[in-house]
Amino acid sequence: MSAMRHGAAALSANQPVAAPAREFAFSEADFRTLKQLAYDYAGIALSESKENLIYSRISRRLRALKLASFHDYCDYLAETPSEIENFINSISTNHTKFFRELHHFEHFRAHVAVPFAQAVAHKPHGRLRVWSAGCSTGEEPYTIAVVLKREIRDFASNDVRILATDIDTDVLRRAARGEYVAASVDEVPKEYRTFFAHQAAPDGAEKVVIEQNIQSLVAFRRLNLMDQPWPFSGLFDAIFCRNVMIYFDTPTKTALVERFKRQLKPNGWLYIGHSESLIGSHPGLDLVGRTTYRRSQ
Ligand SMILES: C[S@@+](CC[C@H](N)C(=O)[O-])C[C@H]1O[C@@H](n2cnc3c(N)ncnc32)[C@H](O)[C@@H]1O
Repeated sequence: MSAMRHGAAALSANQPVAAPAREFAFSEADFRTLKQLAYDYAGIALSESKENLIYSRISRRLRALKLASFHDYCDYLAETPSEIENFINSISTNHTKFFRELHHFEHFRAHVAVPFAQAVAHKPHGRLRVWSAGCSTGEEPYTIAVVLKREIRDFASNDVRILATDIDTDVLRRAARGEYVAASVDEVPKEYRTFFAHQAAPDGAEKVVIEQNIQSLVAFRRLNLMDQPWPFSGLFDAIFCRNVMIYFDTPTKTALVERFKRQLKPNGWLYIGHSESLIGSHPGLDLVGRTTYRRSQ
């Protein structure tokens, strides 16, 4: 009996492990087609290791559209230009949080918010423009907004705007609601907690809501960073583009950083994600701190 058990175990150990059957046929050619589309349209460079991720994320679209295979989905994408929006929404990675990489906000407070507040205290009618490029569900631009709100006393006499853009229309809809689960403010420094109002959600769970006077500082817009040209002419005092360029390859990233540089005012600041230090030289953009760059005069 024990020998039999032993034998049975040895047999199964030597047998190839069958991959779980997939609900939809997904060939290498289908993956290549979707990979190319993500790159051409959004600059997103999907590595081979993302094949399973793409399968699971796009499978939902196949179910919703009642399609039988990824081949059919590729055909559908080619015939239906509007589907690109759902495709990009499905593949984009949106992780974010309030005060992510706190040091950027301490820098922004000291070098942008406080000097602006001091300048307009003497001479009102100041103008401040900040861009959160790749804003996801809004935690980054709302963090920028509360930092400004805490320093600037008079918004009525000054022109202060935060532009928050993303390619993903689902996250932009959520961002514009300004509602988050209560735990999302757990790591917010206590001096900023008062800007987040706690409310009971209809299902009994607690949520936090961004105050209207904070929300009104932020304008959410859909923008694909690969679009040429960008639809604004004015320059920014600061640009946050954090944890977005990790999805791009080096040529895309290099070209994008040059465009950010041209979109900054002289002495304006560029903040990028912790794993994204800029490769290559960008004359006129100086590294001045951890993943913090300044446009020289
Ligand atoms: C991981 S989130 C980063 C959110 C936030 N900046 C942060 O650091 O917490 C990356 C965001 O970049 C957006 N994104 C990716 N490719 C983009 C593109 N070509 N144009 C605009 N946004 C893009 C995604 O939709 C996603 O919401």
